[in-house]
Amino acid sequence: MESSSPVALITGASRGIGRGIALELAGAGYDIVVNYTTRPEAAAETAHGVEERGRRVLIARADVASREDRESMIAETREAFGRIDVLVNNAALSSLVRVDILDAPEESFDRVLAVNLKGPFFLTQAVGRWMVEIRKRDRARRLHIVNISSISEYTASVLRGDYCVAKAGLGMLTQLFADSLAPHSICVNEVRPGIIATDMTAGVKEKYDRLIAEGLTPLRRWGQPEDVARAVRALVGGDFDFTTGAAIDVDGGFHIRRL
Ligand SMILES: NC(=O)c1ccc[n+]([C@@H]2O[C@H](COP(=O)([O-])OP(=O)(O)OC[C@H]3O[C@@H](n4cnc5c(N)ncnc54)[C@H](OP(=O)(O)O)[C@@H]3O)[C@@H](O)[C@H]2O)c1
Repeated sequence: MESSSPVALITGASRGIGRGIALELAGAGYDIVVNYTTRPEAAAETAHGVEERGRRVLIARADVASREDRESMIAETREAFGRIDVLVNNAALSSLVRVDILDAPEESFDRVLAVNLKGPFFLTQAVGRWMVEIRKRDRARRLHIVNISSISEYTASVLRGDYCVAKAGLGMLTQLFADSLAPHSICVNEVRPGIIATDMTAGVKEKYDRLIAEGLTPLRRWGQPEDVARAVRALVGGDFDFTTGAAIDVDGGFHIRRL
């Protein structure tokens, strides 16, 4: 049976930015699918936070790079809620090793591209098809897809070139699906975080502490998962229903060219 509340599926919602988005959207009245791949205890913690906000939750283990896993996650979501209103492609991993691209191993390229680009591409394709079905039955429903990209989409980091290439691809993915799904009034946008305090950046904390203090970002502080989460909530919550194919920078002004 179809849930009476809107449903948001967030990939990589066990930790970091994904958890922040899950809790923010739960607070805004969405039931949540918490996707994770390796850390069930972290996913359970996010799920607990969703329930504390009075919403229903499904925990879905799925490697977004795997077709079988993506298909079973969508089947579980259909079974649990019978609907989907928001997909957030958030799951990603950094380069397996930080080395100059002249020495970068192919294994890292393959895995990073599979998780950070192929996964979102085919998950968006599958959820997009489902949303088109939903649209045929319901002309009024608000349907949104949000991709969490990065300043690495346009900033060269030669020590993690595969990550940058994947994020650049995600920018085009946003444009492509925005165009393809626009006739069905399904919006596809991108939120582009800067330097955010999560496990992904924990290993380079001291370096970024220094760079931020020196003014790397005009707003001289670390971003928090909640900064990104609030932008996602704003995009899907009704104030941006005439916006598609857009990128919102949540980066403390990092993208400003300065002299
Ligand atoms: N942190 C930053 O400064 C920053 C800046 C710009 C953009 N971003 C982007 O923001 C997003 C979230 O980053 P984060 O910093 O929150 O990362 P994080 O703390 O490392 O968390 C990554 C999340 O993705 C999940 N995940 C990893 N591989 C997966 C896979 N194959 N299938 C499904 N889930 C998978 C992890 O699940 P498990 O817990 O099960 O491992 C975890 O929930 C990413 O797209 C990242 O590129 C981050």
